[in-house]
Order: sequence, then structure tokens, then C-alpha cells
Amino acid sequence: MTDIATVILAAGAGTRMRSKKPKVLHQIAGRAMVSHLLDTVSALEPDLNIVVVAPGMDDVCEEVAPAVTAVQIEALGTGHAVASALPNLKEFQGDVLVLYGDTPLITKETLQRMIDMRREDDGTAVVVLGFEPDDPLEYGRLVTNPAGDLEAIVEFADASEAEKAIGLCNSGVMAIKGTLIQDLMDAIDNDNAKNEYYLTDIVEIARTKGHVCKVVKGAESELLGVNNRMQLAEAEAIAQKRWRHAAMAGGVTLIDPDSVFFSADTTLGRDVVIEPNVFFGPGVRIGDDVRIKANSHIEGTSVGDGAQIGPFARLRPGADIADDVKIGNFVEVKKATLEKGAKVSHLSYIGDARIGEEANIGAGTITCNYDGYDKFKTDIGAGAFIGSNTALVAPVTVGDGAIVGAGSTVTRTVDKDALMVERSTEVQKHGWAERFRAMKAKLKK
Ligand code: UD1
Ligand code: CA
Repeated sequence: MTDIATVILAAGAGTRMRSKKPKVLHQIAGRAMVSHLLDTVSALEPDLNIVVVAPGMDDVCEEVAPAVTAVQIEALGTGHAVASALPNLKEFQGDVLVLYGDTPLITKETLQRMIDMRREDDGTAVVVLGFEPDDPLEYGRLVTNPAGDLEAIVEFADASEAEKAIGLCNSGVMAIKGTLIQDLMDAIDNDNAKNEYYLTDIVEIARTKGHVCKVVKGAESELLGVNNRMQLAEAEAIAQKRWRHAAMAGGVTLIDPDSVFFSADTTLGRDVVIEPNVFFGPGVRIGDDVRIKANSHIEGTSVGDGAQIGPFARLRPGADIADDVKIGNFVEVKKATLEKGAKVSHLSYIGDARIGEEANIGAGTITCNYDGYDKFKTDIGAGAFIGSNTALVAPVTVGDGAIVGAGSTVTRTVDKDALMVERSTEVQKHGWAERFRAMKAKLKK
């Protein structure tokens, strides 16, 4: 038991996103904002995570499972949202961390600092995470006393000119003493510019009840709130910068870091070199000593040690690339296993297939895996050699060590070590081209 519970607010309509999708499901580095928060808080090993959702947000419930969800029947404000989670906290005596689902970049270190400050002195009822952004925009302002303790949070819509001039802003993240939370929440009303129940009012309420409230300061880069698509892009940029640094710190060379995009779950081995303009979608694992050449797009793929990918490669979900495989330019691989040392060097589509060890797939080879209704598998044995411009009409098998002549359309099993050629007989007429040109020239006169 760590005596920490988290309440993540995710019930807001997110109107400013202009989206059919709930705001907290919008993604940063390929993962929903709310899931970034759950990932981060998991490092604190909370006893309980509660996500507050609006009615009908089944997609959010699905995304956050197994976290508990509480439904806020009507979006009456952040205070009302936290109150909706309280029935789940009846027995809970520890500290409650409140996070906003639209503030996904916070780090576990910052959360730990808040918990530590809350616990330093038992008279502290609330710790608020403040920050000093370059542009304080419409964030709530933190009013402190000369001792540095927090007196009140004033929402922008309710702030006087003097209060708007305060540079210290409310990030929304709070640590609240669990034994007091019910009492503090009960005292919140909606007597303000927006007629909402503001969570931020609990600071003033706690103080009038004789408790102390404190501020922990955090970096703007952790506390950006995402209300619109411009801020979503800003948050993405901050997250990407973090993954790039983590990759380089872990032994990966990025020739042009700013042009490489990672997903939150990308894993990279040692001595990987990534050339410019490479995009990693979700579910990618890259082994050691891999080189990923420029302009490649990779998702749902596992790449073994020593493999070479690209330039201009497209690896789609289910691509399982073993050690020392070579994937060249303009090659697309989907749901296919390429065994050790296999080569697909140019202009190919490999889908629903197995390519055996050391097999060589010639330029322009296509696995014809789809008949408009169903998908079928192509199986190519170890050491097989597929000539250029071959169409493999699945389901089809090419045995170990077999050779398929260039330009063939393969529809039947090719036996182990056989040669298979499917080509019509060539016709050659000597001097025909010269005579043809002469005839045309004559007609023109
Ligand atoms: C809030 C703070 C503001 C702070 C800012 C930081 C309040 C009253 N204001 O303002 O002081 O500077 O965040 O980003 O808290 N939500 C619900 N139910 C509701 C309303 C909101 O679950 O009824 C959720 C939203 O989904 C969102 C979060 O609470 O994840 C914050 O709500 P939002 O409306 O974005 O608050 P801000 O106006 O940004
Ligand atoms: Ca917000």
C-alpha cells in the first residue's frame, strides 16, 4: 500500500478540439493522452486509479481499463468531476492526486515531489502544482502569501486585472489529503463567472478551515494543457523531443533527430542508426546494430539484430524481420515473417507470407495475397531464389532452394530445388524493326 489514489478528470466535452472523439483519446506519440497519464502514475504504484468520464464515453472506459471509471452525469466543472469520484474513495485514508486528462506530459518525479510535500507536514491539506509559462494565457492564477504558501486559485474568467498580472499559474494537478477531501469538496459552490463547480476553490476553502496549502513548481514543458489542436501539436513536439533524447541516451544514433518520430512504445537496441525522415508507429521493436535508412515508415513490426531497412521501406503490422535481413527501397511488408538473412532488395510487396532463411526475392516480386474476399498465404523456403517481376498467386508454396525464373506467374507448388519458369516463347524477327521504320518513312512522303 502506497496510500496514493489518483483521480484523472476526463469528462469534459473538449469542445475546442472540434472532434467527434473525446479529447483524452487524442494521441501523443501514438498513445491516447489519458493512457500517458496512467503510464506515468503507475510508477508511483497507486492503490487505486479512478478516471472520471462522461455518460456514453465507453471508448474511454475501454482505453483505461483496468482503471476504475466514475461517471460524471453532467459536466458541471472540475470540482463536480472530482466529487463524482468520491464514492470510490469512501474507505480511502491516503493522499489523492488529481490530474487533468488533457495535461499528459507530467513526469513521475514531479508527482513524487508533490506527494512528498503533502506528507512533510500533516497540516498541509492541498499541494498545487504551479508553473510560470512564457504566456500565462487563460490559466488559473495562484495567489500566494509572503511566506510562499498558497492563499487561493483565481480562475482567469473571475480574475481582476491585478490577479491576471500574476505569472504563477495553476497546472490543475493537486495532491489532497484524503481524510479532508470529502469535507473540502462539500463546501464548493458554483457562484462564479462560469457557474461551474471549480475544483480550484478548495484552496480558499481549506484555508478558511485553518489548513495550509502549498505550491510545488514544475516546468512548462510538463504542464501544457491541451485544449485545441495547436496545443496538441505543441505537446507532440515536447514528447518527441523526450523520446529522441531517450533514444540517443540509450545508444542510438539519430543523424537528424528532429526528423525522426517515435511512438511511446518504440523499443530500440544498441548501436542502431536511424537516418533522416523515419516514422515509427505503435508496436515497433528494433534489435541491435540495425540501420534504418531515410524515409522509412514502420509500425507493428519486430526487427532483429543487424538488419538493414530502407531507404523508403514500409513495414506494416505483423512484419517479423529476423536478424541480418535486408529490406531495400520501395519494399512493403505486411503480416509476413522474413527469416534470418533473407533479402528483399527492391520494389516488392510481401504480404501474408513466410520467406525462409537466406532466400532472395528479386525486384518487383509481388505476393498476390487477396482475391477481393479473402487473404491467402505464400510460403517460400530457405535459400529459394525468386526472379524479378514474379507474381506469386497465393495460396502457393515454393520449396527450399528452388529457383523461379524472372517474369513468372506462380500458381502451383514449386518443388524443393526445382527450376520453375512460366513464360511464353520468345519470337525474334531479324531486321523487322529496320524494315518497319523504312515503310513508315515512305508513307510520310
Ligand atoms: C483548468 C483549471 C485552471 C488551470 C487549467 C490548467 C479549473 C476550474 N480550472 O482550466 O485553473 O489553469 O485547468 O490546464 O479547474 N473536466 C471534467 N468535468 C468537467 C469539467 C472538466 O472531467 O465538468 C475535465 C476535462 O475533461 C479536462 C479537465 O477536467 O481534462 C480540465 O477541464 P478544462 O475545462 O480543460 O479546464 P480549463 O478551463 O483548462
Ligand atoms: Ca484544459
